Amino acid sequence: MVDAATHYTRVLNKPRKRVGILTGGGDAPGLNAVIRAAVKTGFGFGWEMYGVREGFEGFFDPEKKVKKLKDDDVAGILHLGGTILGTTNRGNPFEYEVIEDGKKVRKDRSDELVGNFKELGLDALIAIGGDGSLAIAQQLFEKGVPVVGVPKTIDNDLSATVVTFGFDTAVSRATEALDWLHSTAKSHERVMVVEVMGRYAGWIALNAGVSGGADVILIPEIPFRIEHVCEKIQQRYEIGRRFAIVVCAEGATFAEGGLIHKERAEVEAGRQEVLLGGIAERVAAEIANHTGRSCRHLVLGHLQRGGHPTTFDRLLATRFGHAAAVLVRDGKFGNMVALDPPDIKSVTIKEAIGEMKRVPATSDVIASAKDLGISFGDEPPRTYYI
Ligand code: F6P
Repeated sequence: MVDAATHYTRVLNKPRKRVGILTGGGDAPGLNAVIRAAVKTGFGFGWEMYGVREGFEGFFDPEKKVKKLKDDDVAGILHLGGTILGTTNRGNPFEYEVIEDGKKVRKDRSDELVGNFKELGLDALIAIGGDGSLAIAQQLFEKGVPVVGVPKTIDNDLSATVVTFGFDTAVSRATEALDWLHSTAKSHERVMVVEVMGRYAGWIALNAGVSGGADVILIPEIPFRIEHVCEKIQQRYEIGRRFAIVVCAEGATFAEGGLIHKERAEVEAGRQEVLLGGIAERVAAEIANHTGRSCRHLVLGHLQRGGHPTTFDRLLATRFGHAAAVLVRDGKFGNMVALDPPDIKSVTIKEAIGEMKRVPATSDVIASAKDLGISFGDEPPRTYYI
């Protein structure tokens, strides 16, 4: 039996594991809850925790952007939206944009990143991000960086986890917006067309649309015909419900004519994609044109990502943060945490980033919605006997 003084001297002199943590890509409500849980768990395991600011970018300016975290840094952040570490869509270290001779060129700066990681004396890295950031985490793992991943996206389009944190908050926010729109739509006997996020998956539109009592839901998985959308709207007016709510996923597509988008942009840690947006405006214009009804459109945009995470997201994020620290403790690098109810499990990052999860045609939510008379614009409205 050692006395207390010897015990504490040993604890204090023991080299402590040094673990970095970063958030990359677009923010999602619950990031702070993940950071808090991972950092507090790390402290409990006796580690030193280092916050890396602005995603992988932080490793290129470690003096300014890598900071040893204290308990105070993670106090009072559980319920806060955003990320205390900051994040960026730019800066893929493997294809880093630099200006050379006045021209934009892409350079592989990953060796520099790995060098800085080693120089900081870090033993592990917890990377919280979407598919782009996780793909970078995987490449770094292949270069020898001991990394574990935590999936984040409001879009819920990662196949390896049943749900990602941030999704529930985005759906709740969109649902609340639909609640508010009912009264103004009804007062003016208008059609309100609401655009929600979700990239190429219709999860947010479907769940918010059903929960918020939409009449039409347009999702990327079911290309729509504007005639069927208009038929449904006319049917509502004819039965005396003289307003309508249409929810459009930003990635919804016309059966003829495809996707509506804006310019190309970096959407996730250096990955170039078109920036979606504009579908609600187009659909509202077409409805007004075909039906002569008064139509308005609105884009909920980043309101869906900002602000406090819901209880569900706080809990899931906390479980993910804790599980990520446990993966580090157990040396399970190259893995990411995932929800497989009722458990949190781990999957390799490689398999996690392979496949996009879209709403399946067999979804019972779609079946229920259709039987309730909600139109997806893919067929004429069902007869409604009243
Ligand atoms: O992936 C999350 C997401 O919010 C998408 O739903 C949306 O298309 C995109 O990010 C918007 O990106 P940004 O924040 O760069 O405008």
